[in-house]
Amino acid sequence: ELLQPVSQALAGQHWLITAGPTREAIDPVRFLSNNSSGKMGYAIAKAAQRMGAKVTLVSGPVSIDVPAGVSRVAVVTAEQMEQAVMQQVSDADVFVACAAVADYKPAAIAEQKIKKNAKTMEIKLIKNPDILQQVGALKNKPLCIGFAAETENVEYYAKDKLQRKNLDMICANNVAKKDIGFDSEENELVLYCKNGDSVALDQNAKYTIASDLVSEIKNRFF
Ligand code: CTP
Ligand code: CA
Repeated sequence: ELLQPVSQALAGQHWLITAGPTREAIDPVRFLSNNSSGKMGYAIAKAAQRMGAKVTLVSGPVSIDVPAGVSRVAVVTAEQMEQAVMQQVSDADVFVACAAVADYKPAAIAEQKIKKNAKTMEIKLIKNPDILQQVGALKNKPLCIGFAAETENVEYYAKDKLQRKNLDMICANNVAKKDIGFDSEENELVLYCKNGDSVALDQNAKYTIASDLVSEIKNRFF
């Protein structure tokens, strides 16, 4: 991977970034989750750090090392991620929500391992808090950058999230395409800005996409 030279372009800024999946327990040994690798969020953290920002990464369970100079808060559930973000957000200049937060969690966690007695079973799910929407609704909100993981109507759904969550920019990710997005080495994004501008970041290594994204944010908003 080609690293951009270290710079001080973001000196004095604090970037708060969520990454990875969350896990929602079903019983003591089982959980609901998704196959987010965390690579995109970690690449953004690394790119922002190398441009001189102070970076806090709130991360669900992933198997990647923390980038040098980045501080990581490790969480498991959406609720823990929400708490960690809310604790840090008043000090943040930029919030990038890259995590694949579980939309729902089991209504109750079984105290004991569930036995396979019944022929069918149902798990009742309840909605998790929307962390990005909560940050977007703050009175003194940081610059808010979201991701939209879509398999259809990508532009329409992404722009809807941009508006509904009160974001400054959304990075649309077509996760139906092969070899990009979830659990892969490369990505391809279309950035939609609040002012109507859009920018395509064509398929490339996640770190390259991340540095281009961070530069784009810096050039547009700072
Ligand atoms: N997000 C979040 N908290 C949640 C769900 C999503 O912070 N509980 C953030 C994600 O990190 C991402 C953005 O919101 O930046 C959009 O996530 P996405 O899953 O694409 O959209 P949702 O709003 O969850 O809607 P849906 O899954 O129905 O498309
Ligand atoms: Ca979702």
